[in-house]
Amino acid sequence: MREGDAVTADPADTAIDPLPPDRAYYRVGRATRRLVVVSNRVTPMGGAKPDSGGLAMAIRSALQESGGMWFGWSGEVAEEPTDEPGIAVDGPLTFATLDLSRRDYDEYYIGYANRVLWPLFHYRSELVEFSRRYLAGYLRVNQMFAQRLAPMLSTQDLVWVHDYHLIPLGEELRKLGRTQPIGFFLHTPFPAAELFRVLPNHRDLVRSLCAYDLVGFQTQQDLDGFRDYLLRWARGEELGRGVWQAFGRIVRAQVFPIGIDVGTVAAQAANADGTRHMGRLRQSVGNRALMIGVDRLDYSKGLAARFQAYSHLLETHQETRGRTVLIQIAPPSRSEVPEYQEMRKTLAAVAGQINSRYGEFDWTPLRYINKSFSHQILAGFFRASRIALVTSLRDGMNLVAKEYVASQPADDPGVLILSCFAGAARELGEAVIVNPFDIEGMAEAILQGLNMPVGERKERWAAMMKVLERNDITAWRERFVRALSAIDTRR
Ligand code: F6P
Repeated sequence: MREGDAVTADPADTAIDPLPPDRAYYRVGRATRRLVVVSNRVTPMGGAKPDSGGLAMAIRSALQESGGMWFGWSGEVAEEPTDEPGIAVDGPLTFATLDLSRRDYDEYYIGYANRVLWPLFHYRSELVEFSRRYLAGYLRVNQMFAQRLAPMLSTQDLVWVHDYHLIPLGEELRKLGRTQPIGFFLHTPFPAAELFRVLPNHRDLVRSLCAYDLVGFQTQQDLDGFRDYLLRWARGEELGRGVWQAFGRIVRAQVFPIGIDVGTVAAQAANADGTRHMGRLRQSVGNRALMIGVDRLDYSKGLAARFQAYSHLLETHQETRGRTVLIQIAPPSRSEVPEYQEMRKTLAAVAGQINSRYGEFDWTPLRYINKSFSHQILAGFFRASRIALVTSLRDGMNLVAKEYVASQPADDPGVLILSCFAGAARELGEAVIVNPFDIEGMAEAILQGLNMPVGERKERWAAMMKVLERNDITAWRERFVRALSAIDTRR
């Protein structure tokens, strides 16, 4: 088995019954259980907003099929947030959302989540701005979420908490007497144990993780970081494969690489032909080779190095001038965080330099766009692109990589250039794998992609599609929920 491959199903997984016809509930043994998902972002009804991150899109596709409840932040900052969650119902899915106060938003979301955990989990310890005020805000909001959620839970519900914003939530629910199975999935990387210790409250966070019954990671490397920490710093004991005893609790930890809704993305891409956007795109690109990058504007995405790699290619391979176009779509994100403001300025400057140096009156090499597009439009853009550049410096999974592959036409697929530091590289070994710190290496990879014969492109694409189809978004959800349910039936 390759690293990052799906972990073999536990025999106890068979304890779960097939889904009932309305698919809104899971049956576990004799009990019927509702799936309750909790995440910081909740995508509202009426389809995902174009700028929803990968997590919200993934949860939405996972829940759309199974139904259940989705609880989290409304995305709104209110003067005086109400105690009662706002409720909306969309078929089998109920949304329950809370507003945040300005102080909570600043300390919990901007502060601890995005100025402490995010940089650290992406191996950027020099960007960590730890403060006790941020930490207090983080703990306060997690406690508040638990207090609002607890009365909405029945003892039969399966609770599945997502991402670094909500690590302490499970422990808070336990304090309120909730005993049902509670699982946690980390969408970002989990750092090496030694890096994790940079956090002054590292021990408390891992203790909180151990309050869950099941903790899921994107890759084996993330799981290894957690395991090493338990062993070396928490006197943890491995009771069996993936089962740990630490902080007086038993926790299971496994790898569950997140997938996408392959069929929907492929259909969106195929249906894009003939739309107004596609017409404009094709006309503006002409017969040049189109390359694309789509990333939230985030320092973890490696955009500056990507631009430099393209610049290096134009410098060293003059034949590519006038014949290639790179479209980089980068919707702004977390704009209150100073590091994001800095990066925005830097990237605009680098893009300007490239265009002024190599551009011609009838050719702009780099189209750098700070706005978002719907997933439908993006799928069409992916299909029209000969190359996708996913060159993150560190990434939990990166679903753009998977969406690009799923969008390709079988008879003339494009080339995925993928960072070895993105979780997706563990599954998509047939992409052109690059080191995002190696500018010249990335330039060579682009050249390789531009010159790759169609036979080789087809072979690589077919192999990657197999992986995507085997581990799609439904398989991901089912594996996690089954593993969580199995823990309960064994209790
Ligand atoms: O996947 C990582 C993640 O941080 C999600 O938790 C989040 O919803 C997404 O990226 C987008 O970020 P934000 O919610 O801060 O806009």
